[in-house]
Amino acid sequence: MPGRVLSVASECVPLVKTGGLADVVGALPKALAPLGWDMRVLIPAYRGLAAKLGRKTRTVWSDPALFGGPATVEAVEAQGLSLLLLDAPHLYDRPGGPYSDGGHDFPDNPERFAALSWVAASLARGGGTDGWVPDILHAHDWQAGFAPAYLRFGGAAPVKSVITIHNIAFQGHASPERLAALRLPLHEFHAGSLEYYGNLSSLKAGLVHADRITTVSPTYAEELMRPEFGMGLQGVIAARAEVVSGILNGVDTELWDPAAPGQAHPYSVQNRKPKAEARAALLAEFGLGPVEGPLAIVISRLTAQKGIDLIAAAAPEFLAGGGGLVVLGSGDPGLEHAMRGLAAAWPDRVGVKIGYDEALGHRMFAGGDVVLVPSRFEPCGLTQLYGLRYGTLPVVAATGGLADTVVHANTMALAAGTATGLTFHPTDVLALTQTLRRCLALFADRPTWARMQRAAMKSPVGWETSSRTYAALYADLLT
Ligand code: ADP
Ligand code: GLC
Repeated sequence: MPGRVLSVASECVPLVKTGGLADVVGALPKALAPLGWDMRVLIPAYRGLAAKLGRKTRTVWSDPALFGGPATVEAVEAQGLSLLLLDAPHLYDRPGGPYSDGGHDFPDNPERFAALSWVAASLARGGGTDGWVPDILHAHDWQAGFAPAYLRFGGAAPVKSVITIHNIAFQGHASPERLAALRLPLHEFHAGSLEYYGNLSSLKAGLVHADRITTVSPTYAEELMRPEFGMGLQGVIAARAEVVSGILNGVDTELWDPAAPGQAHPYSVQNRKPKAEARAALLAEFGLGPVEGPLAIVISRLTAQKGIDLIAAAAPEFLAGGGGLVVLGSGDPGLEHAMRGLAAAWPDRVGVKIGYDEALGHRMFAGGDVVLVPSRFEPCGLTQLYGLRYGTLPVVAATGGLADTVVHANTMALAAGTATGLTFHPTDVLALTQTLRRCLALFADRPTWARMQRAAMKSPVGWETSSRTYAALYADLLT
């Protein structure tokens, strides 16, 4: 049964990443290959990306006039991935990140990602020149949301489509005046198709027109059908409940391997010493003094979603109780300021680096005792999974994928030896404060802490189960 899948997204590790979407898009092909699925990943050729690959590419698609300029799709094998790079300089060859110039979103983002989706649909219809035609088109998030719609609008679709929601907070809104420019039929602008409260929404388009909808954890799949989490799309998703499923993300266990030779400070269940060394090195790197309590780490976009404001409020009591804190992230200027403020108030106990640094992230997972993820909502979350793998126990809000992956240290779980972290609810300062208090006490109980670390490191955070679930979903679509 296995076949071909065209995966379409705006990010893919190791080429371009702003968040967990990239990790997942980059990991899926490797996870599915052993099950016989041949997955290619279509992403935009952002500035410098082709040069970064520095290899021979094959042109497999071209159009002299794609949304205002010439474009080609270049196939290249790199980093263990079969990549398709959409090279359209007028859309992607510009300074800045994938979505913005650093400060403001690009005003033509609707066109930029509609073009990506248009090309995906064209390739899915057999438009490529190398004979590779997918059986399934797998679109990720709003950036690829129009792809299932273009497929549908182009007449009887020869391939099936799946859309995965990584984060409902981003919905790809655009003015309806852009309908024609985005090559969308005017008569599809109604509440049952492309319209969302007077605007266009590419995510909604995908949710309405894909054959299947998935999201990245079972709990988020349920949450999305409720107004508190659905962000206006709960009705659209609930109406299609029979084709919605939640498939937990895994992590790339080779890239995130605490025992890998390339790691600065390997740490294994058998040998606890290196964790202590990594911890000492991390404290030294940030110029912190001795920290007798748990060293908490935060590696995150600094946004309201991630509950960073709660950390600012709850940290002082935790720090006074002996804890330490190291933060790596960037985002909302107010939250960056709040984190810098903590570091200024607790220079011996709090280290903050504003920015993005993949290697430092690895060192922090190796050296931290606890990873804090007090998200208000979290479709899946990857940092708690990295934490489990490195014996850096997750302290997380009980929502979305966080609730699905961390076993709370209640009396029963502690007795059974299955506890892997601490979860709290609701996501507020009081609950986080109380949980950090509990964390200080648990950390002081060394045998219990070590037992939890062992359970955490045995947690199945790889793709073994979820790759089979995706494979079963694809197979089901083709029968
Ligand atoms: P989201 O995708 O919502 O941002 P996830 O937990 O799914 O959240 O994924 C975030 C990913 O980005 C993880 O791989 C995390 O380690 C990484 N990350 C986030 N911020 C930074 C940063 N400032 N530096 C390095 N890695 C980061
Ligand atoms: C999104 C979500 C995050 C999830 C990631 C990968 O960015 O916010 O929870 O882990 O996508 O699916």
